[in-house]
Amino acid sequence: MTQFRAELFTICAASGKSYAAKRLAERALRRGKGVLVFDPLRDAFPATWRTASLDALLIAAKRSRNCLIIVDEALANIGLGAGEKAKFLWLATMSRHCGHQVVFICQRLRGLAPTIRDNCRTLFLFSVHKESAEIVAEAFNDEGLKRAPSLPPYHFFYKEFFKPLKVCKF
Ligand SMILES: Nc1ncnc2c1ncn2[C@@H]1O[C@H](COP(=O)(O)OP(=O)(O)O)[C@@H](O)[C@H]1O
Ligand SMILES: [Mg+2]
Repeated sequence: MTQFRAELFTICAASGKSYAAKRLAERALRRGKGVLVFDPLRDAFPATWRTASLDALLIAAKRSRNCLIIVDEALANIGLGAGEKAKFLWLATMSRHCGHQVVFICQRLRGLAPTIRDNCRTLFLFSVHKESAEIVAEAFNDEGLKRAPSLPPYHFFYKEFFKPLKVCKF
């Protein structure tokens, strides 16, 4: 799995996305990496630091280096306003210059700024609505992703650009 200068992008219907992100967080912690989590639902992520404040997350991200940053329920928060949108865009486009890797978690793709989607290099796609599967099939240039609606619970497509699709489960 790409460890640096890459944004992970997790999308799925309610089917284990936070669970999967927690496993990624544990893996990063075991490797001695800092883990910053935006956790508005206070879902008890393993982390070096958690917050429900987007402002606090941005300040922490700008002060630190080489962290895994997890943004849970990203889409639910992106609709809030221009200020929030700018913060998510910074995470998607600029945070890599601090050595960070960002995981955006969301249920649907419609409404997610294309700039964020286009900056993601890795996809964890769980069973998802047909509409979202078609959007990512085009974005990641892989027709196989259209089969995502029939994935069993907790299973996901793992996709990196220019690499074959894999079915995985944590
Ligand atoms: N791979 C898995 N194996 C076992 N249990 C899982 C797995 N993924 C999710 N679960 C369980 O399913 C429930 C929902 O998972 P969660 O990650 O909170 O869903 P989401 O974030 O998509 O709403 C949780 O109780 C979690 O423990
Ligand atoms: Mg969740």
